[in-house]
Amino acid sequence: MSTDVLAPPAPQAMDPETTARYARCIEISKRVRWEIDRDVIRSRNFDFDRKFLPDGLTQLEHLRDFSTGEKYLLSQIQGRTYVNMFCMVERFINAKLLDVSREHWLGDQVALEALIRFSDEELKHQALFRRLEHLMAVGMEPGYQFVPEADPVAQLVLSKSTWAVLALTCHIELFTQTHYQRSIHVDPDLSELFKDVFLFHWKEESQHAVLDELEWLREDAKLTPAQRDASVNDLIELMRAIDGLLVLQSQSDVRYFVRLRGLRSPEQLAQLHAVMLKAYRWQYIVSGIEQPRFFQLLTGMLTEEQANRVTRALTPMIT
Ligand SMILES: [Fe+2]
Ligand SMILES: [Fe+2]
Repeated sequence: MSTDVLAPPAPQAMDPETTARYARCIEISKRVRWEIDRDVIRSRNFDFDRKFLPDGLTQLEHLRDFSTGEKYLLSQIQGRTYVNMFCMVERFINAKLLDVSREHWLGDQVALEALIRFSDEELKHQALFRRLEHLMAVGMEPGYQFVPEADPVAQLVLSKSTWAVLALTCHIELFTQTHYQRSIHVDPDLSELFKDVFLFHWKEESQHAVLDELEWLREDAKLTPAQRDASVNDLIELMRAIDGLLVLQSQSDVRYFVRLRGLRSPEQLAQLHAVMLKAYRWQYIVSGIEQPRFFQLLTGMLTEEQANRVTRALTPMIT
């Protein structure tokens, strides 16, 4: 049997400044390292009299004719979808980062260590989100459904070019920083456990976003103009696929709410559908697009025509 497929590529020299950025990620990763039970959950359970996601993420202020208790329930449903969404996206993120780590097997071992730590943290995050899903499943009425399945979604995402997957990944890991910022204001009605989830996730995601950037730029430097152009179309397809999942999940979450709280008038139902989809689009698409770093990186790699193509494709999702 040929072993060529197992042979790592020849190592490429890395400039000292880039190696220093990987090294800095390792140093911070060691310093902020946390454990699921000892630091995050700490034998706590969710308080179902509180909101799970902060107002800055839920968009529920746009809902009229819904009581405060109903809005709390909707924030809990959105919170449950939040942990499931991250459990799903971190599946393909981890697979892609392990894939690109192959190019550091030989050569710069600092970069390799940074990506191995990244992968280890992402596996831990998935385990945390599974634990949180279990706590919510125990405390909430039956009937909630998370529609997408992690592995088929990962297979679809990973079928696209590495450039596009790294772009999507960088976008996701940058928006976790926005989500943390929206969770830190004082709100006595916000779940303390969920606030800690934002805090601890952000601590490690901050390094991941830097590593995504380094790997994305490294991948970009290898592409021909034609390959980059095809990758832009891949990124658009990925964004559309994510948006399609958000449409399905928002519909499922509205059905769950109606099942628990009873039928609404057609106008209220339409309003609820619109607000839930707007919230999910904001959480998983717009908050990343609006990240100045993501915009700067993306536009720095694209021609004006390619940037306009991306903008045209995203416009229906962000307005
Ligand atoms: Fe994560
Ligand atoms: Fe991450």
